Amino acid sequence: MLYIGVDLGTSAVKLLLMDEKGAIRKIVSKEYPLFFPHPGWSEQKPEDWFEQTMAGLKELVSDCDKSQVAGISFGGQMHGLVILDKEDKVIRPAILWNDGRTGEETDYLNQVIGKDKLSEYTANIAFAGFTAPKVLWVKNKEPENFARIEKIMLPKDYLAYKLSGVHCTDVSDASGMLLFDVKNRCWSEEMCDICGIRREQLADVFESYEVVGSLLPEIAQELGLSSEVKVIAGAGDNAAAAVGTGTVGDGMCNISLGTSGTVFISSKSFCVDSNNALHAFAHADGKYHLMGCMLSAASCNKWWMDDIIGTGDYAKEQAEITGLGENHVFFLPYLMGERSPHNNPNARGTFIGMTMDTTRSDMTQAVLEGVAFALRDSFEVAKSLGIRIERTKICGGGAKSPLWKKIMANVLGIKVDMIESEEGPGYGGAILAAVGCGEFASVEEAADKLVKVVGTVEPDPELTARYEERYQQFRQIYPACRELFDKII
Ligand code: XUL
Repeated sequence: MLYIGVDLGTSAVKLLLMDEKGAIRKIVSKEYPLFFPHPGWSEQKPEDWFEQTMAGLKELVSDCDKSQVAGISFGGQMHGLVILDKEDKVIRPAILWNDGRTGEETDYLNQVIGKDKLSEYTANIAFAGFTAPKVLWVKNKEPENFARIEKIMLPKDYLAYKLSGVHCTDVSDASGMLLFDVKNRCWSEEMCDICGIRREQLADVFESYEVVGSLLPEIAQELGLSSEVKVIAGAGDNAAAAVGTGTVGDGMCNISLGTSGTVFISSKSFCVDSNNALHAFAHADGKYHLMGCMLSAASCNKWWMDDIIGTGDYAKEQAEITGLGENHVFFLPYLMGERSPHNNPNARGTFIGMTMDTTRSDMTQAVLEGVAFALRDSFEVAKSLGIRIERTKICGGGAKSPLWKKIMANVLGIKVDMIESEEGPGYGGAILAAVGCGEFASVEEAADKLVKVVGTVEPDPELTARYEERYQQFRQIYPACRELFDKII
């Protein structure tokens, strides 16, 4: 049988066709625009997601035996607010995960409602990118839109709705809304009250591997597929990527170097970081995970390469880099503010330490290292909780760079395992579809059978020691700039 995984990303939707042995038969990618209507705001049109997904699906199945396609599932950018009216029309562009407009609403939730209460109700505190502060923002700043809301949904759930007609979400993605009681895997009545919404406006919640319905007849016809093709709930992109890299069960780690950067730690039992610096979310395997998320990871490198130095040849730029662990230039990668662990939408990107002999490649190196150091910040939080991590998987666009993987292994001082398929969320989505269709008994069994480690980057003790010194310097820069960031915004 064949399974489709849809990775609804921030720059593009990537669709992948996988067979029951886990072999990827085809990958199709379709881009759509991202809008920054004000500094710190980030929006996309849900209609663009659907249009491009349909175009991608048509291309994906154009040359396969369509009768073999059994299921479709998703890994989607998390936290985005999609609101529909009574006629199922999108009310306003989606407010995305890396949007920083909700400073006031986030402060209200954390300070007036209080972090303790939020953590009790949802296992998390408010971060500017989470969905509940966005609901409050619409309520406060666009009351006419708020009054029209019939359905509240997350990005990938908009696709599931358009394909199946079912208003659904899954536990991992729902976890990032701050409206969800993560421990008990259900909506939080208290949070609905705090945000002034009704339970009926929210979707029905499924485990990530559960079937929510099947393709609507008109969609099936347009795609040339059977209307019996099952639609499976899917997961937030990080949980889906974790499935796609075999990061399921207890104490496994995955790093994603995508537009965002995440450290994802799977856990068989529910656990919360007492300071809530790491997110405590439900996992797509039926269990839980902790996660640190930085808002700009591979996107910092893309910004530096494409927009600043103006080159598309990333490999050539990286080939000029020598002297790992010896760079005196540091880069704070907070181009969209920062989530973990600083929770500060006003934080900004910063280069520091340049001299007259600083070269272009020192700056390029500082960008790659700055992202690695910022991920280490989340790692340090995990360590402080007593979590011991000796190795990690890695995925995302940035993971294609051997140099960046080496920097990651040495900045973190752990082994970095590479997976045969680096298509994290899309591959995870296809695996969830296969589990939902009964091809495997559980997500864990599917990941065990399908995900293959093809190599490991080992940390080098000398380089790790040099990076340790650099990291201790790096971690002093943000506190020194913090107050200034509030003034220069
Ligand atoms: C996770 C997060 C990002 C987005 C990126 O909390 O905000 O990783 O899911 O798509």
